[in-house]
Amino acid sequence: MKILVTGGAGFIGSHLVDALVEDAEEVLIVDDLSSGKKEFINPKAKFFEGDIRSADTQSAIKEFKPEAVFHLAAQKSVRESIRKPAYDAEINIIGLLKLLETCVDLGVQKFIFASTGGAMYGDNANLPASETEPENPESPYGLAKFASEKYLQLFSRLKKSKTMILRLANVYGPRQDPFGEAGVVAIFCQRAVAGETLFVNGDGKQTRDYLFVADAVKAFLKALSLDASGVFNIGTGKELSVLDIIMNLKTQHAPDLVYEHREPMAGEMLRSVLNCEKARQELMWTARVDFAEGLTKTFQYFKNNQNL
Ligand SMILES: NC(=O)c1ccc[n+]([C@@H]2O[C@H](COP(=O)([O-])OP(=O)(O)OC[C@H]3O[C@@H](n4cnc5c(N)ncnc54)[C@H](O)[C@@H]3O)[C@@H](O)[C@H]2O)c1
Repeated sequence: MKILVTGGAGFIGSHLVDALVEDAEEVLIVDDLSSGKKEFINPKAKFFEGDIRSADTQSAIKEFKPEAVFHLAAQKSVRESIRKPAYDAEINIIGLLKLLETCVDLGVQKFIFASTGGAMYGDNANLPASETEPENPESPYGLAKFASEKYLQLFSRLKKSKTMILRLANVYGPRQDPFGEAGVVAIFCQRAVAGETLFVNGDGKQTRDYLFVADAVKAFLKALSLDASGVFNIGTGKELSVLDIIMNLKTQHAPDLVYEHREPMAGEMLRSVLNCEKARQELMWTARVDFAEGLTKTFQYFKNNQNL
């Protein structure tokens, strides 16, 4: 099958492309390399370097004629979206709409979207949050993802195509950027390997649902294979705190690890965890990699790639 992966040079997208290529699919990656990396690009995939908003990019997609689209290209920083909401909306909403117009022109029947579980339900959700929980994004990033979901669902109805929306938990693993503002597992692994002090915002008891990237990829592949539309939470259903991550690192990999507390981040959510029962029942997907195993793979990756 001919498959387009936007953001296919990024953290999650590059793992997804590897799996698709392994399944002998014909893949076109579209990525502007703003945060993605050339070295993550699978050599068996075609690659077009461009912004999803540009006419050249849309022409390249039209020439390729994908039958299915995975849309992962995004401005992914919650904090950046608060600093620059218009910039966030240009990439995350207008970018999506440009891509959607092309997909409608081409009659693409299957669109799979990387949405967010962590930034969708807000602070007052019943936890673990299921898909029936009211959406209450607390950032422009979350709001843009929610608006994108709504556009996709509308066009899916108008054009009778299938749209799968995966609300991903906090994904971690090899190739995640360890120098960003988010991605605590990657940041901690990189600093632990370098023998540097870890910094914990506040008391470190804030929790997230940490999903290993290989499990996220399997959910994307299931979404491709299923002839359906829908919204699915994709996570582990388990909460881990920042201190839990540090304790895992200390006991498994870095006994001499040192950490310090800093001021809490204003507006940071205290808890986030997803109920993924719908994905288990309808997608036949469940997270398989437990945190200790995923952490080991991530730590080893940063140990082996210290010059990144
Ligand atoms: N990492 C997570 O925990 C997480 C959680 C929920 C949702 N998501 C979503 O999953 C997707 C992938 O996230 P990631 O963590 O792999 O991030 P990433 O930054 O590694 O990947 C995004 C990719 O999109 C590319 N890109 C950005 N703007 C572009 C543009 N205008 N045109 C073309 N390419 C562009 C970047 O170069 C990068 O390769 C994003 O949509 C993100 O919002 C990620």
